[in-house]
Amino acid sequence: MTTATATTATSDVTDLTDLDADIRRDPAAHRVLTGDRPTGPLHLGHYFGSLRNRVHLQRLGVEMFLVIPDYQVITDRDIADHLAEHTENLVVDYLATGIDADRATIFTHSSVPALNQLLLPFLSLVSVAELHRNPTVKDEIAHSSQATVNGLMLTYPVHQAADILFCKADLVPVGKDQLPHLEVARTVARRFNERYPHPDGTTVFPRPRALLSSAPLLLGTDGGKMSKSRNNSVPLAADEDTTARLIKGAKTDTDRRISYDPAARPEVSNLLLLTALCQDRAPEEVAEEIGDGGAAALKRTATEAVNEHLRPIRARRAELAADRGHIRQVLRAGAERANATADATLTEVRAVMGSL
Ligand code: TRP
Repeated sequence: MTTATATTATSDVTDLTDLDADIRRDPAAHRVLTGDRPTGPLHLGHYFGSLRNRVHLQRLGVEMFLVIPDYQVITDRDIADHLAEHTENLVVDYLATGIDADRATIFTHSSVPALNQLLLPFLSLVSVAELHRNPTVKDEIAHSSQATVNGLMLTYPVHQAADILFCKADLVPVGKDQLPHLEVARTVARRFNERYPHPDGTTVFPRPRALLSSAPLLLGTDGGKMSKSRNNSVPLAADEDTTARLIKGAKTDTDRRISYDPAARPEVSNLLLLTALCQDRAPEEVAEEIGDGGAAALKRTATEAVNEHLRPIRARRAELAADRGHIRQVLRAGAERANATADATLTEVRAVMGSL
């Protein structure tokens, strides 16, 4: 099979550091799409794992689309609580951490109807068995508070394929948990291209690649995965006292000698890593400095490092948060641009499918 867009042998997962030179050579050859569910404030894990990479990619000159997938919120809960508030706060977090709203297209699922039109042909390309096999969906079903599994839970990865494919993104910065969804998007793109080529043999969709962050994963204050919904994260928007309290409450161990050993001492190592990320140095060096100071000294050091690193971001955040009119305007402009792109893709899809 030939695709007009696949120029090199692409693996499905790439590390940003591997791609950096390639992107610098020709940033206009790439398009990034990623997004965050509007279910709560972004935290340090998002910041070091993904927000910083996005800003880096944008500064390299890559066009960026950021989807706020409001329809994904109702996959594992009945009601999307505080949807408008969470959505606006995400935009505030994006802009405060350095995303340029004039160049990035920030939009919600629900403001782009063509995404739902793309969903239908895409669903026809995926089997029910494949929907049931998705490991991330299985995990979410296991952790869901709902008594029954709704249809959207099973089909949202195909909707997510529409998020990615509507703008023909080739790079999708995500965490490891999203890799099964990226695989769905790649499968949909491949099958669509095979089934519905243009008359001249070229194809509609590129094969998107996941872009994994090279930053090691931050754990939550309880030693588990840092997550908005597990109450174990340090939000970007937290004030300095709250940050101190959250880090003070973090799980550690009783060995006073501080050492960086993620396998044997995950919680202590996590605070060292957090400090190191904030100060742009090695966690071993931070451990060396604290020496026999114990968990209390470690937590003081980590708290200072986080508060210092986030101070300018938080100051910008506060300014942005005070101007809701501006935030809504960013979403309006983003929706307009996303709709124009999505409508153009839908027109192309309907043409190759013979609908026009
Ligand atoms: N599923 C992602 C999450 O739970 C959010 C998301 C929706 C997304 N659409 C996307 C991520 C497209 C990357 C690309 O966080």
